[in-house]
Amino acid sequence: MTALNIQNLSKVYENGKQALQDVSLRVPEGAFFALLGPNGAGKSTLINILADTVRASSGSVQLLGHDLLMERAWGKRHLGVVPQEIAFDPFFSPREILHFTRGMYGQSRDEVWVDALLERLELAEHANKITRQLSGGMKRRLLVAQALVHRPKVVILDEPTAGVDVELRKRLWDFIRELNAEGTTVLLTTHYLEEAQELCDQVAIINQGRLIASQSMQSLLGDVASSSLCFRYEQAVELSESQEQALQAFAARVCDGVLCLDLQHEGEHSNFDTAYQAARQCFGAPLDTYMRQENLEDVFLRLTHKDAA
Ligand SMILES: Nc1ncnc2c1ncn2[C@@H]1O[C@H](COP(=O)(O)OP(=O)(O)OP(=O)(O)O)[C@@H](O)[C@H]1O
Ligand SMILES: [Mg+2]
Repeated sequence: MTALNIQNLSKVYENGKQALQDVSLRVPEGAFFALLGPNGAGKSTLINILADTVRASSGSVQLLGHDLLMERAWGKRHLGVVPQEIAFDPFFSPREILHFTRGMYGQSRDEVWVDALLERLELAEHANKITRQLSGGMKRRLLVAQALVHRPKVVILDEPTAGVDVELRKRLWDFIRELNAEGTTVLLTTHYLEEAQELCDQVAIINQGRLIASQSMQSLLGDVASSSLCFRYEQAVELSESQEQALQAFAARVCDGVLCLDLQHEGEHSNFDTAYQAARQCFGAPLDTYMRQENLEDVFLRLTHKDAA
């Protein structure tokens, strides 16, 4: 079953800015899905369309088989959204906000679940303060609690950990992971790519309003990520034009003074030996040599830069 099926979604804002262009995306039920992209890529625009705070210019979205853009009331009951922008009525307390929010979805009062959320999001001791008195990180955690208070099947989090300190961030992710393990579908945006790599099983990348990748994390890191052979010398490497040309086949580049060459793999074989010899011919014997596998951040930077070029 598909949790979210987004088809040909486009958005042109009133000022003519095209923020989304023909984006099609499928989020399987039960997924832990990362929607990634640089600042201004269109992530929040997409999420705000799902949350009904921005109107799509064209395209369609199905939530668990229902037309989300038409069946808004149904959608709101089954979707929990943590928006990027924080906005609360400053004079209510977290506890009151959580009870009101359940009421708004037509659900009965549930002291046990509200207490559990306050506890898990480490807001219990602030539960009765007025929200104006909460810190930035506390308000963000309250947004998360608010998105979960009606126990939605699909949860969408737009940078839920922005401004949340390291330890709390870890515990927040533990909680979201538990909800996912119990069957909640999770879609999130974040600029912490290391966290996305660890948490998510699916990943999509948007750049300048267009989708440039959408696949399982494993296949992105297996198929698209490449490995490099790195050479460290006594002195930081500087590539002359002729050396760059001699090593062109390996896309030679210098990272933090270390020479890095692309390795190509074909089945059991790789070009390790030829890359190694070529580097020695240019720079002599290195102090040490090591392999480096690209991580999500490397792939992200490569794909978004290539796309922008
Ligand atoms: N209300 C608006 N009117 C006009 N343009 C807008 C509006 N909201 C966003 N934009 C523009 O649309 C583009 C996409 O913005 P969006 O907020 O969706 O990006 P994002 O991927 O969420 O970025 P970030 O990582 O910074 O949160 C940007 O160029 C932004 O300036
Ligand atoms: Mg955003």
